[in-house]
Amino acid sequence: MEPGLRRAVVAGGSGLVGRRLVRALLDQRVQVQVLTRNPATLHVPAGASAHGWEELPTLLEGADAVINLAGEGIADRRWSASRKAAIRDSRTRTTARLVEAMRSCERPPQALVSASAIGYYIPRDERPVDEGTGPGSGFLAEVCRSWEAEAMAAAPLGVRVALVRIGVVLDREGGALPKMALPVRWFAGCKLGSGTQGLSWIHIDDLVAMLVEAARNPAWSGAFNGTAPEPLGNGAFTRLIARRLRRPLLPVPGFLTTLATRLLLGEMAEALLLQGAFVLPARAQSLGFRFRFPSASAALEDLL
Ligand SMILES: NC(=O)c1ccc[n+]([C@@H]2O[C@H](COP(=O)([O-])OP(=O)(O)OC[C@H]3O[C@@H](n4cnc5c(N)ncnc54)[C@H](OP(=O)(O)O)[C@@H]3O)[C@@H](O)[C@H]2O)c1
Repeated sequence: MEPGLRRAVVAGGSGLVGRRLVRALLDQRVQVQVLTRNPATLHVPAGASAHGWEELPTLLEGADAVINLAGEGIADRRWSASRKAAIRDSRTRTTARLVEAMRSCERPPQALVSASAIGYYIPRDERPVDEGTGPGSGFLAEVCRSWEAEAMAAAPLGVRVALVRIGVVLDREGGALPKMALPVRWFAGCKLGSGTQGLSWIHIDDLVAMLVEAARNPAWSGAFNGTAPEPLGNGAFTRLIARRLRRPLLPVPGFLTTLATRLLLGEMAEALLLQGAFVLPARAQSLGFRFRFPSASAALEDLL
């Protein structure tokens, strides 16, 4: 039986998800230590502290949980060979570094909650997938597999490992939603490609609650899909944004948007926008996790 969650180390705690997670943990009176590349300049909320990677392994000694969100932004710029290497290495190497540090702890952390992504499953057709479904193929699926393998290396040390395969995180200020809503606001919205490719999303509040639960609850072990129970096709999701913003959508033929996104974004367009999967959070739900925003219309109503 694990003791309660009293001290958590959050790697990548300065990012979109990490900042919200740190606040949620502090609200629950958990002591939070943010692991960052910029400990001297990073501003963390009162009650939390910032630490550099060179403070490993001391920082991990006896921690109740390590939550690992670190990694270069996947959609920040076009994927060149060097960008792809940075995306991969910033996940596999940092995760390996965390586990290596755990190995030299006298009392390793109780739990490692490590981010992964629904890119694990992509590309898929319209049949829903859950945690029992095997991996997809291509760059993102490969990155997710090696990222998860590095995290699982903590299990033989007696650390409980929960992998959270995160979907498209919906937030007011950052991530995918403002970028998707912008053209719709300016009367230039349309579905991308066929529009039938799955878009598996999660409201940021639900994701944060899931990460806290995974850190706290000893039953959370193995892979979990960090997605809402209502994944939609890209077309259906875009229509919901348009309805919420009271805007029409342009009837652009799918082949044109496919061509344009490929030209603009290259390989990244294929993997992030034109392919997808309908990913269900089967394991979280089987453990009784309750979503505050189970439907996309409720999530968009809250965020837009
Ligand atoms: N947002 C989404 O829609 C989404 C979807 C699926 C999966 N995920 C995954 O969930 C995790 C958190 O997502 P997020 O949106 O919060 O990411 P984010 O805003 O890009 O933040 C990630 C954090 O990782 C750290 N980082 C960046 N490059 C690094 C490097 N080369 N080495 C070590 N640390 C590095 C940064 O912290 P410092 O600068 O403080 O070091 C950064 O704040 C990521 O791993 C992401 O892949 C996110």
